[in-house]
Amino acid sequence: MKTVKVCASKAYEVKIGASLLNDLGAEVAAVTKIGTAAIISDSNVWPLYGEVVKKSLKNAGFSVISYVFPAGESSKNAETYLSVLNFLAENHVNRADCLIALGGGVVGDLTGFVAATYLRGISYIQVPTTLLAAVDSSVGGKTAIDLDCGKNLVGAFYQPKLVLCDTDTLNTLPRDIFRDGCAEIIKYGILYDEALFAQLEASGLAFDREAVIARCVELKRDVVAEDEFDTGSRMKLNLGHTIGHGVEASSHFTVSHGKAVAIGTAMISRAAAKYGICAQQTCDRVLDILTRFELPISTNCNAQTLFDTALSDKKRSGGIVNLIVPEKIGSCSIRPTPVDEVKAWIEAGL
Ligand code: NAD
Ligand code: GLY
Repeated sequence: MKTVKVCASKAYEVKIGASLLNDLGAEVAAVTKIGTAAIISDSNVWPLYGEVVKKSLKNAGFSVISYVFPAGESSKNAETYLSVLNFLAENHVNRADCLIALGGGVVGDLTGFVAATYLRGISYIQVPTTLLAAVDSSVGGKTAIDLDCGKNLVGAFYQPKLVLCDTDTLNTLPRDIFRDGCAEIIKYGILYDEALFAQLEASGLAFDREAVIARCVELKRDVVAEDEFDTGSRMKLNLGHTIGHGVEASSHFTVSHGKAVAIGTAMISRAAAKYGICAQQTCDRVLDILTRFELPISTNCNAQTLFDTALSDKKRSGGIVNLIVPEKIGSCSIRPTPVDEVKAWIEAGL
């Protein structure tokens, strides 16, 4: 097992390793009072891991209740949020109790936002069960729900008390969803860590999960320590996201977030090479590693469509977009770019 300590407005540990769900109760007891533990999960994860989590918490002395909602992004909304709040209130959950977010980024983001707002704040524990949640969404305290007109438009910065990542849970992830998470670990390599990138180039999909997740969490820990509230350097974590959002939205969300980010990362790398910001060899390494991880590197969409879908709101306001641009493997810059110039970047990346 590996432990990474995050020092944000609240300090907490991220524990990563095999078979950790069995120890969850004892780990939660070490950071909260023994009382009620309310597990929030989704309809795919609960049948797989609900019983072991419940048993572990009961063995440690907690009273356990659970709320399970239908799996998928479409549940990350105000309706589910209010249902969970009502469930907690009906069960007299109080501020000495805690919530357990058992699932991927959808469960984690929604439960975190419930925790931030129920009784003006209650403890919660992240138990990520997707690779994306393990390396990104469970760490750093960004919580949110979606509105009809956009993703993550309502939320709060609210840090968990503990993150417990049992790497065995990744064994049941559909391969496609696992690959979506791989786009995120490759992102960390491009942004911050040449050695991690080289390790992934060598291993491909057979990487050492515990070691790689722990390294990504260390990198995210450093970002969060520097810019917890996302006013500066944390925005680098959006590498590939501006164009990726265009790909995702213009496919009407049939292209997954991870694959859209992979295409966005490939495109911004091609554009950076064309503009002489990074070497062609850097761009080629990015394209090669994405392909090795069975992730897409191009789209059929044209530049105008991508531009319109990615940036329509900012176009209206005549704003600036912060493009995250690779300079070499392990180093990227934030380039404030007038919206009117973004189309040329997209064209250069196609
Ligand atoms: P997800 O939570 O929808 O999980 C993907 C699918 O995998 C779901 O169907 C889920 O039921 C299933 N699943 C989860 N764990 C499983 C397991 N171990 N075995 C089998 N199936 C399993 O999606 P995700 O990709 O984990 O997260 C995406 C969400 O994360 C988005 O809402 C995004 O906005 C958010 N996000 C948040 C942050 C942040 O910093 N808070 C960062 C990145 C992404
Ligand atoms: N996933 C982006 C962030 O945590 O800032």
